[in-house]
Amino acid sequence: MNPLAHGLTPKMRPLSPRRSAVIAAVDIGTSKIACLIGRLTPKPPQEVLTRRSHSVEVIGIGHVRAAGMKAGAVVDLAAAENAVRHAVHCAERMAKVQIESVVVPLTAGRIGSELYAATVQLHRPVSDGDIERVLAAGNHHSVREGRVILHSLPISFSIDDTKGVREPRGMVGQKLSVEMHCATADLAPARNLMLTVEQCHLAVEAMVSAAYVSGLAVLADDEADLGAAVVDIGAGTTTIAVFSGGRFVHADGFALGGQHITMDVARGLTTSLADAERIKALHGSAISDSFDDRDTVAVPQVDEADHGGPNLVSRAALARIIKPRIEEMLEMVRDRLAASPFAGLPRGRVVLTGGGSQLTGLGELAARIFKRQVRLGRPLGISGLPEPAKGPAFATAAGLLVYPQAAYLEQFEPRRTRHLMTGTDGYFAKVGRWLRDGF
Ligand SMILES: Nc1ncnc2c1ncn2[C@@H]1O[C@H](COP(=O)(O)OP(=O)(O)OP(=O)(O)O)[C@@H](O)[C@H]1O
Ligand SMILES: [Mg+2]
Repeated sequence: MNPLAHGLTPKMRPLSPRRSAVIAAVDIGTSKIACLIGRLTPKPPQEVLTRRSHSVEVIGIGHVRAAGMKAGAVVDLAAAENAVRHAVHCAERMAKVQIESVVVPLTAGRIGSELYAATVQLHRPVSDGDIERVLAAGNHHSVREGRVILHSLPISFSIDDTKGVREPRGMVGQKLSVEMHCATADLAPARNLMLTVEQCHLAVEAMVSAAYVSGLAVLADDEADLGAAVVDIGAGTTTIAVFSGGRFVHADGFALGGQHITMDVARGLTTSLADAERIKALHGSAISDSFDDRDTVAVPQVDEADHGGPNLVSRAALARIIKPRIEEMLEMVRDRLAASPFAGLPRGRVVLTGGGSQLTGLGELAARIFKRQVRLGRPLGISGLPEPAKGPAFATAAGLLVYPQAAYLEQFEPRRTRHLMTGTDGYFAKVGRWLRDGF
């Protein structure tokens, strides 16, 4: 069965909390493609990152400049495929394993969210069977033509009018409801991303929201509990995931990213994209008022032969080119957050991640625009990452290796393995555990 034809992305087999596994992930971004191979080992509960059942050690990594991608979507299948193959090959060689399937993130396709509730009648105190029935009822949510479900996750239970029930088992009432979060995206970019991976003779184990998995990698437990908006600023996209009560409750995104700032710099300074990229990263800033006009940068000119050498440009002038675009992006994020469950989380903070979050002064400008606490996020608790991959640009890639630990929460597909996973440590017991831990 091709799940996409049924409005579903492939769903990964939940990882047993007691087993080790080798997992592979490919982050197919607009500017870079990164393949990570990780060993997941069951870990004892610790004081930090308590929701993680496994520790993650990266045993292979390959990253290459992206090709055939625009705004997070594949625009040239052959070029993208080639780049994916190359990244996978490097990671396989380093890990000395051959991979057959990968977890991939999606940033394109106007990712959005729907919240909905499923309800069942109760005739006696809530049992495992009732929880199973209400989750199964939640499973029947359908999506509009042309959209696919990336995630369908239980957020909270309620009994009659009492919301936020942590542990419904044993409670009495007339109706048991579960509130579900369903994250969806356009079918076409999802299908083309899957095709790209499959042409590399790899199966797509799961396709996930990039900002969600970035959040799994960068958020501390408290942040996910009290409320956080993870904003992953990539090259061609900015994607958002809101967490509350430990759960992923909202997704959004748009097709603007660091690349648009680079293009503004190239145009504004009449220099090449490569020089604009370097100048932005080394000397650019989101804040223009902290520079002296004598603080200058040499800018190679595209028509240097006619001009007789590079131009000198002040850093203040460079910041004035960058500022309107980054402000536009942050204001879009602000407006989208205002229309999301984040608006109801007064203690919620914004965590900026993705390569684009490294722009100097961004945190300060973002705090002014959001009027919230803002911090920059990089992957937490992942061992074996080489120095260049420890930064925010690898949040999504790292998060793809954390995701398998959260895959058991997904509700949108009847799983063949489901009947094998009931029992004391089984599937529903674990959902119960997570909902309990999540509050
Ligand atoms: N020091 C820096 N200052 C400003 N921008 C930076 C810096 N370092 C990297 N960037 C920007 O980060 C972007 C790349 O980020 P990232 O690797 O997260 O993107 P991607 O995953 O390839 O793209 P997407 O997620 O949009 O598909 C580029 O636009 C780059 O210019
Ligand atoms: Mg990205």
